[in-house]
Amino acid sequence: MPKTIIVSNRLPIKISEEAGVLSYNPSEGGLATGLGSIYKEGDNIWLGWPGMAVPDEAKQDEIAAHLAGQNMRPVFLSEKEIEDFYEGFSNETLWPNFHYFSQYTVYDEALWLAYRQVNRKFARELEYIIEEGDTVWVHDYQLLLLPEMVREENRHIAIGFFLHIPFPSYESFRQIPWRRELLNGMLGADFLGFHTYDDMRHFLSSVNRLAGLSNANGKITVDSRLVMVDALPMGIDYEKYEQSAASPDTLEREVRYRTFLGSGKLILSIDRLDYSKGIPQRLRAFERFLYTYPDFRGKVSLIMIVVPSRDTVPKYKQLKEEIDLLVGRINGHFSRLNWTPVHYFYRSFPLSALSAFYRMAHVAMVTPLRDGMNLVCKEYIASRLDKKGVLILSEMAGASKELSDAILINPNNMEHFVEALHTALVMPEEQQKRHMGTMQVSLRRYNIHSWVKLFMERLSHVKKAQEALMTRLLDDTLTNQLVQDYAKAKRRLIFLDYDGTLTGFHPNPEDAAPDESLIYLLEKLTTDPKNETVIISGRGRHTLDNWMSRFDIHLVAEHGVWLRRKGGEFTMLARLNDGWKSEIMHVLEGYVNRTPGSFVEEKDYSLVWHYRKVETGLGEVRTRELTSHLKYLAANKNLQVLEGDMVVEIKSSDIHKGKGAASLLEAFPADFIMACGDDWTDEDTFMAMPPESYTIKVGSTASAAKYSVTTVEDIRLLLQKLIEN
Ligand code: UDP
Ligand code: G6P
Repeated sequence: MPKTIIVSNRLPIKISEEAGVLSYNPSEGGLATGLGSIYKEGDNIWLGWPGMAVPDEAKQDEIAAHLAGQNMRPVFLSEKEIEDFYEGFSNETLWPNFHYFSQYTVYDEALWLAYRQVNRKFARELEYIIEEGDTVWVHDYQLLLLPEMVREENRHIAIGFFLHIPFPSYESFRQIPWRRELLNGMLGADFLGFHTYDDMRHFLSSVNRLAGLSNANGKITVDSRLVMVDALPMGIDYEKYEQSAASPDTLEREVRYRTFLGSGKLILSIDRLDYSKGIPQRLRAFERFLYTYPDFRGKVSLIMIVVPSRDTVPKYKQLKEEIDLLVGRINGHFSRLNWTPVHYFYRSFPLSALSAFYRMAHVAMVTPLRDGMNLVCKEYIASRLDKKGVLILSEMAGASKELSDAILINPNNMEHFVEALHTALVMPEEQQKRHMGTMQVSLRRYNIHSWVKLFMERLSHVKKAQEALMTRLLDDTLTNQLVQDYAKAKRRLIFLDYDGTLTGFHPNPEDAAPDESLIYLLEKLTTDPKNETVIISGRGRHTLDNWMSRFDIHLVAEHGVWLRRKGGEFTMLARLNDGWKSEIMHVLEGYVNRTPGSFVEEKDYSLVWHYRKVETGLGEVRTRELTSHLKYLAANKNLQVLEGDMVVEIKSSDIHKGKGAASLLEAFPADFIMACGDDWTDEDTFMAMPPESYTIKVGSTASAAKYSVTTVEDIRLLLQKLIEN
């Protein structure tokens, strides 16, 4: 029975040892609490670190045996590995860089090497349990290299990856010296999920700029393997928090806590100790609130729970000291005998205690400076059974994209922060219920179960799409068949697109003249008396004439505007007018003026705006703008606006390559027909071919072609095989 293997740095259970006795407690943090309910199903297994160094082998065996009964398998890390891989590269390099704390980021080769080596350790551990048909689901920033390492050993296995923290903009990510290796590691996965669209687009932008791979709606081709990227915000186990809020244990705790806290209003704050959570900023905002609204003194308290985390990392230690000082300052200044402004706890609590706090809090302040998602705010909402309560949420948390009914704030805007607190504390109940109700409906629906289901569906969708593409790949058997058919044939007709098929793309289109090896191939093909060879291209007729006049070859230029049979003259395939060109040229010139590096190519019956040399990203933005700008103009003039590889082409709707192809098919009946192309303009050629033809596309996106190859080199190799025959 195929299983799902979840892999994350931390297991959902952490071990501690006191006086030689081991105890097992649930781990904190969004990843562990979020997925905690899933891994126990069937034969599934969770592979990860149990949270402390266990040098003693007998103890390791004891732990492994204990965890095996709960579908978990430990990966043990030495003290040094914990220091360099976990505290070091994971939490002093990746964590601050990905959360835009560049001033906290450490770049150290030794830490990087430890990170790579521990990722390798996880890969080796996986090899003990992985079986054909299994699905591997890798989580989070500590294991970015793992997908590629697993792929190396298991070519066809389904690998998913989810990042639980933000993916930073290219400007931050590019600062990491090992950025390419990290991206390559991630791209070993088949499906990559991020919490928000912004994370996804940042990732795609880095892939584009650093690996040179573009995407179409989140689909990327990596070494001829289809990889998909999507935004999939993680939900919570809604029912678990809802039920816990109603449990007798929680209710009993609430009554007990209330007797100590009195009847004042409560503001709740719960986080791991982390500088990304904005804890000092929150304390300062509360302090300022008490200064600004003195009437609230004695009537409202802040319950601040800070869960110890990574406190061996220097920046975390400093943060702890800062929080201690701030709490001391506020309580020292404002406390009364019968009122404490801040109730501060530096420890973790069991679920029933958290639920009691969630129930009691009139306001939850979830105001990170940066957070991948943040589950605390979702847990608060699920626990508000009477629908009362107000959430103040930072717009820097991934959750803010889903929870627009919260009071959204920028935690750096102190004035706004204080006003938000006031608004929350005086909000009428009806309004509270309306907002809370809306957010509850959404969180109940997009819960952890639907998140896991969706992730798995997307992953299996990619695997199916990969398989479909695999069957089309022109493998050795198909190539041999093609070569045999070619050899047997008496009359052959061969259509070859030029750019992207016979030769790669150049920053300057005029630099793409045939090189020596292409000249050799075309020479051989065109001198074989059984062959009719056609170059069928979007290039203008003068360029094609320049490059091809030495061969005995048919030319279809400008996507089918012009046809020149071998030895003949160019003639037009359709009656066209070019009266529209000056008006459209005027529009395009405007875009050239605003977009350095772009230029317009003028052909007889089409205009092409090129942006290959434009700053990455800007060209795509202008393309969106240009195509919508031209939409109505084009429709009125019977023109089509087509997007190609770094180009936007405007031409008459009546022209396409299929017309040129059809004319030659009619003139030269053949018993072997082949057409090769790489982009949308070649789809018309493919569709014009009779069913028994060999139609071959360079690249793996959807196509009317029967077969595909990966690169221009593959086409050249194929032609080489044909001429050698
Ligand atoms: N949490 C916990 N014990 C505590 C306080 C919090 O287990 O004493 C849990 C909390 O319920 C939430 C998680 O820790 O599920 C924190 O996740 P979040 O996404 O908010 O932040 P992260 O720690 O992942 O950055
Ligand atoms: C965040 C990260 C998790 C991590 C958790 C707790 O939720 O996304 O990967 O496990 O914090 O941090 P820790 O360093 O204690 O594992």
